[in-house]
Formats: sequence, structure tokens, C-alpha cells
Amino acid sequence: MAANRNLLILPGDGIGPEVMGEVKRVINWMDGNRAVSFDVDEDLVGGCAYDAHGAPIADATMDKALKADAVLLGAVGGKKWESLPFEDQPERGLLRLRKDMELFANLRPAIVFDALAEASTLKTDLVAGLDILIIRELTGGVYFGEPRGITDLPNGERRGVNTQVYDTYEIVRIGRIAFELAAKRGGRLCSVEKANVMESGVLWREEMTKLHTDYPDIELSHMYADNCAMQLVRAPKQFDVIVTDNLFGDLLSDCAAMLTGSLGMLPSASLGAADETGRRKALYEPVHGSAPDIAGENKANPLATILSYAMMLRYSFDLGDEADLLENAVKSVLDKGLRTPDIMQDGKELISTTDMGQAVVDEMAALAK
Ligand code: IPM
Ligand code: MG
Repeated sequence: MAANRNLLILPGDGIGPEVMGEVKRVINWMDGNRAVSFDVDEDLVGGCAYDAHGAPIADATMDKALKADAVLLGAVGGKKWESLPFEDQPERGLLRLRKDMELFANLRPAIVFDALAEASTLKTDLVAGLDILIIRELTGGVYFGEPRGITDLPNGERRGVNTQVYDTYEIVRIGRIAFELAAKRGGRLCSVEKANVMESGVLWREEMTKLHTDYPDIELSHMYADNCAMQLVRAPKQFDVIVTDNLFGDLLSDCAAMLTGSLGMLPSASLGAADETGRRKALYEPVHGSAPDIAGENKANPLATILSYAMMLRYSFDLGDEADLLENAVKSVLDKGLRTPDIMQDGKELISTTDMGQAVVDEMAALAK
């Protein structure tokens, strides 16, 4: 079948290339067995891009990302690049992708697979069956606000400044995505800010409340971010969809991730605005980092990246059946007791990165029969 879907793969640093290798295994299988093909291009981001080009993402790579139908990223960063100037650090490559592609909506599902409910550090009954979606604003707030920087003061002190700033359009566009996704799920949306302390939070709450009149069927609640962190570990199942700003979303999504037992399981999607044809720029990546301590050892869990690829099939290419097949294969591999070290439990079978990828492909083949 002719492929007119352009996919840019950016494996990145650390375990990125290994986990991405298992996605390529899935891509090849789907190409051969499901007539789902992509024009796949691959390039560098993060520390490896700095080593090759002197920048955490080259302009030519950025151009490819802007033209691709979807970008799939592994992970960036590592000790080797920690002492580089701020602007050259691997994370800046990722942040430039988010900013230049205008990926303002970051979807971070936290789902507890039945087979892994006991792997959570929380009591099993608190997390069994958990399925929440955190929607994080990704291109605004304190991550990008101006003024920012470190300045010298006349008294010899130094001052570090970052600015939390949100304009109404930024709140409204992420709010609409949140209401629309809540409508496709449990119909409950919790908007999170610190309106008790921050004016940006007051504005956030006012705009979400106004938007609610367009979505009367959704149950909207508001929560302060600190309380939300507490509620996430106290009674996480009270949530369906959470919408919040860039920094609170960063913190709360790590917190929610750990409810599921391992960061190694969590995918994410970052979406831009829809154009006239309905197409959105999109980047998919696992929530975990580059885990330099285990890089190259065939120990990393490829499931978060594989599940990110499933999100890509669903959100960028409308291939819901293929996404279901892949997600069901992951469930069934876990039900069979196969585990990478990060999710290992007593009595289960410890396997490598590559064996996990192969097991998922075998399971897809079995389920597709
Ligand atoms: C994330 C990460 C990034 C962030 C880092 C790597 C810049 O923590 O995607 O959550 O802070 O957004
Ligand atoms: Mg983070």
C-alpha cells in the first residue's frame, strides 16, 4: 500500500534508541501484516544531536518535524551533557520541538493495567482499575514566560527570574480540548491551579468556568494544585480528566505516573491546533527519561514508547482498530506474566527489552488471527 503518512522518529539519548528499536519492530509488523505503512525518517535530538551538530536539535531536523504528520520521540539527556551551557542542554531540543511545533496540549494518561495493580507503591484497592487523563498546557506558563534569566544586582547579589503568564486564548484552547476529551470519557473535568495565590490561576479558573457554558453536560470542578497532589495519592479514582498549566502538569503527571507502578508504562501525546483539514501537528513520547544508568543493557521497558505509538495511531491517523490491537497485545503480554526489571514482581518472568518487543508483536499476531 502506498504510504502517505510521514513519520519522523527521534530516538534521542540513553535508552531512547533501545525502546525505539522495539517500536520499529511493531511498525515493521504492521507494515507486513496490517497494510499500515509509514514513510519513516529518523534523526537526532538531545545530546546526540549536540555531539553531531553542536545544538540539541539541528534546524534541518526542526524543519522535518514541522513537515511530518507525526513525530515519535524516545528520550533525551544524560550525564555527559549536564555541564553544557543551559541553551545547549539536551532538554532544550525537546522544549524547542514543543514550542516551534506549537504543541500546546499534552495528554498524559495514567492507566493501571490489572496485571500491574500490585506493582504500585499505593495499596492495590486504591489504584486497581485507575484510568485518569492529565491534560497539561505545554507551550506557556513559567516554562516560557518573559522576563526570565539570571541578573547581577548592584549589591553584588544575583537574581533568578521566571514569569508565570497565561493569556486567555491559551487557557481557552487547552480548556476546549479538555472538555472535548472529557466528553469522550467519564464526563468529569477537574481544573487545577492556585487561584488562592496567583492571578494567572484566578484567570484560569474564570476562563474555565466561562467555557463550561458551552459544555453543560460535563461536570466541572476546580481544585488547588497542592490539594490535587494530595488527592492523587489519597483517592486517585475520584478523577477522570485533569486540566492544568505547564508546571503543575509536569509535577502532577509524575505523581500520577507513579500510581501506576512504573514510569516505564506511561505514554504521552502532545498536540497542536487543528488546521483547515483537521490535521494537528503532533509529537508522541514516553513520560520516562533517558535512564542513562541502564542504557545499552537491554533492560529498559519499551512499553511506554510502544503505547505512545498506539496513541499516535489513534490521534494522528485515526487507526483506532490498530491502536486497540496494540494496546490489547500489551495487556495480554502483562497478563502472561512477562516483565522488564522496572515492573518485576514475585513469580513473574523477567525478560529483556528486545524480548518484550518481540512478545508484543507475537501477541498482536495471535490476537489478529
Ligand atoms: C517532562 C519532562 C520535561 C519537562 C523536561 C525533560 C524538560 O520533565 O516532559 O515532563 O519538564 O517538561
Ligand atoms: Mg516532567
